[in-house]
Amino acid sequence: MRRVHLEPPGAADDPAVAAALDRLAPDPADTSDPAVAPDAPDGLGDALVDLSDLVVQAARAGATALVLEAEPAPTALDEAAAAQGFEVTRTTLQLRCPLPVPPERRGAVEAGPGPTFRAFQLGRDEGPWLDVNNRAFAWHPDQSNRTSDDLAALEAEPWFRTDGFLVHDGDDGRLDGFCWTKIHDRHDPPLGEIYVIGVDPARHGRGLGRALVLAGLDWLAGQGLADGMLYVEADNQPALHLYRSLGFVEHHRHRWWRRAIDRPHDPGPDPR
Ligand SMILES: CC(C)(COP(=O)(O)OP(=O)(O)OC[C@H]1O[C@@H](n2cnc3c(N)ncnc32)[C@H](O)[C@@H]1OP(=O)(O)O)[C@@H](O)C(=O)NCCC(=O)NCCS
Repeated sequence: MRRVHLEPPGAADDPAVAAALDRLAPDPADTSDPAVAPDAPDGLGDALVDLSDLVVQAARAGATALVLEAEPAPTALDEAAAAQGFEVTRTTLQLRCPLPVPPERRGAVEAGPGPTFRAFQLGRDEGPWLDVNNRAFAWHPDQSNRTSDDLAALEAEPWFRTDGFLVHDGDDGRLDGFCWTKIHDRHDPPLGEIYVIGVDPARHGRGLGRALVLAGLDWLAGQGLADGMLYVEADNQPALHLYRSLGFVEHHRHRWWRRAIDRPHDPGPDPR
């Protein structure tokens, strides 16, 4: 998947901009589900060599920046983007691991009676989940500020399963952590995703995150899946440390680059 977006997005509605975008990056392989996206032919790197048409049209339509997005993001595209003045603004990593997680990778969770988890309960857990999620992900570009409408839309997805959405109740009875899984059964081989995992920030560092990820991966393995998958921000050190210790390794990168657009030159009133 390769895309060029504009800031603000409405600038792309301008017909001249839309035509310039289409000339730059026609993308028949585009799909809304990156986990099943085929590795599209890398035409955008070549097309970036001449952005002048798009920049002129975008500036006329009031755009302030071009944003380039690619998954997977090969090194060649890094070089082409940098040569055109783009700077990297965000990188996420898709990690994968073999399932089930072997005993030597499980760590302290196996040493004693760990936390117990239960399935998400529709009609009861939405509010507590939104509270923990929005505090755990307050810094996150996509997962912050989730609303009850966002959650209701996800609950209506065909892949949604309450038994694959594990939650933990703290000693005070309040939900304080969760591991939400998603099965990509159209992918070959099928992938078992840790879709969202979060722990109440007041309870970080006590082993709950590790136990939750393991419980999610065990649930996925129990569904017959042999390949675990997740996305993580490339600078999320606590999560990366945890995932690598469980055997996750990088499969590919998803990357965004940005290039500001100067306002069109306004010569002002004719002095004569
Ligand atoms: C990632 C997260 C779930 C971990 O939960 P947690 O309960 O704090 O994790 P644990 O206490 O089980 O620690 C897991 C491992 O991470 C390590 N770790 C925890 N915080 C760390 C930090 N700030 N820096 C480096 N390592 C850290 C621990 O040392 C532990 O390693 P070990 O098992 O080898 O001892 C939690 O930080 C969180 O909710 N973060 C916000 C949401 C998020 O980033 N989710 C992941 C999105 S992909």
